[in-house]
Amino acid sequence: MEFTIKTGSPAKLKTGLLVLGAFAGGRLPALTAAVDGAAEGRIAALIKRGDLDDKAGATLLMPELAGTHAERVLLVSLGKEDEFSDKAYRDALAAAAKALAASAAKDAVLTLADVELAGRSQAWRLQQAARLLADGAYRFDALKSDKDRKDKKHRGVKKLAMLVSTELSAELDTAVLRGHAVATGMALAKDLGNLPGNICTPTHLAETAEALGKQYKFDVEVLERADMEKLGMGSLLSVARGSHQPPKFIVMEYKGGKAKAKPIVLVGKGITFDTGGISLKPAAEMDEMKYDMCGAASVLGTFKAIAQMGLPINVVGLIPTTENMPGGAATKPGDVVTSMSGQTIEVLNTDAEGRLILCDALTYAERFKPECVIDIATLTGACVVALGKIPSGLLANDDELAAEILKRGTESGDRAWQLPLWDEYQELLKSNFADMGNIGGRYAGTITAACFLARFTKAYKWAHLDIAGTAWVSGDAKGATGRPVPLLSEFLIGRTHGSSS
Ligand code: BES
Ligand code: MN
Ligand code: ZN
Repeated sequence: MEFTIKTGSPAKLKTGLLVLGAFAGGRLPALTAAVDGAAEGRIAALIKRGDLDDKAGATLLMPELAGTHAERVLLVSLGKEDEFSDKAYRDALAAAAKALAASAAKDAVLTLADVELAGRSQAWRLQQAARLLADGAYRFDALKSDKDRKDKKHRGVKKLAMLVSTELSAELDTAVLRGHAVATGMALAKDLGNLPGNICTPTHLAETAEALGKQYKFDVEVLERADMEKLGMGSLLSVARGSHQPPKFIVMEYKGGKAKAKPIVLVGKGITFDTGGISLKPAAEMDEMKYDMCGAASVLGTFKAIAQMGLPINVVGLIPTTENMPGGAATKPGDVVTSMSGQTIEVLNTDAEGRLILCDALTYAERFKPECVIDIATLTGACVVALGKIPSGLLANDDELAAEILKRGTESGDRAWQLPLWDEYQELLKSNFADMGNIGGRYAGTITAACFLARFTKAYKWAHLDIAGTAWVSGDAKGATGRPVPLLSEFLIGRTHGSSS
């Protein structure tokens, strides 16, 4: 989708589709009121007789509206004015996005970003609008037969103008570019997540990283099994033993900042399919374990977003990636492995494999002398039980870093919620035969998983995002969400100093 920002009179604009907001109870935002004036009160009349539902995100499509130069007009409810919030605004944007994606119109004008929202700047509103509208146009039909693809290909708005009544500025342009870049990063993360395990292998992730590095001119290095052996990554390699696919360790370095500025390191779990290994998972919904590389996908997506924005910051991306398969050579429950840090691990359950690949990546991260490290992983089913599918789980060894991530989550609408990482939980990981076990028993599964990782992150400030509940949705709308690319992007934007809130 192509974006522009415009000022001017909405009733006079020639467009395929004009999107207008309206509050429940009838007050019309300025740009909607202007159109209503030109249309002799038709909009107010339709609302009065109840044609537009009160709920934020409800829509009413008018095939034409006398007094305007738009071929169609879409009215979107903003909900009650005194309840207008980030959520109501996003609900309205998402509804507009849905209508735009299905429309026969080729171009559209959106006025929603002009509506005042408490505590949110015009730049913030534009960034959100660009992101949600671009993201709403996302489709995954790469694996459908040609006919099916062609039927859908031509629909949907391709050019979108954001109409505002404030003066145009470079700041507003940047906001739209950022929103668009984040959506582009999300689209990559979604594509990789949605691709099945037979296509999205560790090799495919490595090739994707290499192609991205070439396109945006950042360094990418892919370590092979022999390299990992030399580094002593025995924990990571123990997970790869049952698979016929070669494991990879992807290292990406984006250098947008000063040469001496310490990098922020992002580490993404890249299990391209998690069968559980010898501790085999049950069959129901096992297909969803193709999403077990969504942490890796979010790192790649965030790299795409920041490279497209040209953010002045140094970021390192680390992706340990392998399948977790049963097989004659697979690691068995009770096996003891030695991690790169030298600490030994008793693998009591081969399905707790995420932490086994992450711990070696977290040790590898030390060589970058990081400003901080954030790992992103579909790590525990327990996280979905605890928090559902709304926020990502957040655990950290530094409360300031955690607070910053929580804040960027709220700003981006891609939220996280913190769980405790107290030392008292550490004893649940004790092993009779090694330095630690890889599972902590029935209770507090998300916390004990993070406690395991904490043993490998003592050299730096670190936060862990458990995205088991947020990386994809199940059911009829099954698909990757692209989360937490918005949160990570906003975090990195914030570090450069100019967040858009
Ligand atoms: N990839 C899974 C976590 C997961 C499960 C994410 C379901 C989303 C939905 C992870 O590798 C795993 O299997 N974790 C185990 C850990 C347990 C064996 C301690 C789990 O959560 O059951
Ligand atoms: Mn597992
Ligand atoms: Zn897993």
